[in-house]
Amino acid sequence: MGEPERVLRVRALTAADEPQARAAHERLAVDGVDFCLGLDDAESWAAWLDQGERLRAGECIPPWVPETFVGGFVGSTLVGRLSVRHELNERLALVGGHLGYAVLPEHRRRGYAGDLMREGLRIARDVGLDRVLATCSPDNIGSVRTIEQAGGVLQDVVTHPTAGLKRRYWIALGEAG
Ligand SMILES: CC(C)(COP(=O)(O)OP(=O)(O)OC[C@H]1O[C@@H](n2cnc3c(N)ncnc32)[C@H](O)[C@@H]1OP(=O)(O)O)[C@@H](O)C(=O)NCCC(=O)NCCS
Repeated sequence: MGEPERVLRVRALTAADEPQARAAHERLAVDGVDFCLGLDDAESWAAWLDQGERLRAGECIPPWVPETFVGGFVGSTLVGRLSVRHELNERLALVGGHLGYAVLPEHRRRGYAGDLMREGLRIARDVGLDRVLATCSPDNIGSVRTIEQAGGVLQDVVTHPTAGLKRRYWIALGEAG
């Protein structure tokens, strides 16, 4: 028998995912990365899930924008997360863009960021976008490669007062394939 197949699938998080997701959140907080966006301000896991459902449905007050958040799972193991903003606000147009993704350190360098990117582009197409903005720091080589391998075309490099230098790419969404 060869290596077990490591297929990444994305889905919304559920009540049962709380322990794994909180552990992921705490692990990435050490590196200054938010795994479950907004979790620190939520009253409970249920309240955070509910907020995510409302964001997905577009029930939000600016500057929040509609967003789809999913976990990336290999089997039952949470290895990463993906968020797809359905539209941009002023800040996201500068830094952040439509797509956000993160892979837990112990699962990196296995292609999962590429898998999350593919899922992100599918979700973006499903919510009606025909191109997406993806941004990353020039020194985030893994993210630069992920975006460029997905067909990202560099628009420019901008400086944000707090986020620093950001490369801004557009990725055109062709017909679903
Ligand atoms: C950036 C990040 C998502 C990459 O995740 P990953 O699963 O390790 O990426 P992949 O395995 O899919 O690799 C994608 C490409 O980048 C390369 N790569 C990934 N990490 C790298 C690193 N630290 N140094 C050099 N190259 C790297 C891989 O070799 C691969 O290129 P290849 O296909 O030519 O071999 C992950 O490091 C992470 O979560 N970082 C913290 C959060 C973050 O920065 N998110 C992105 C915000 S823009």
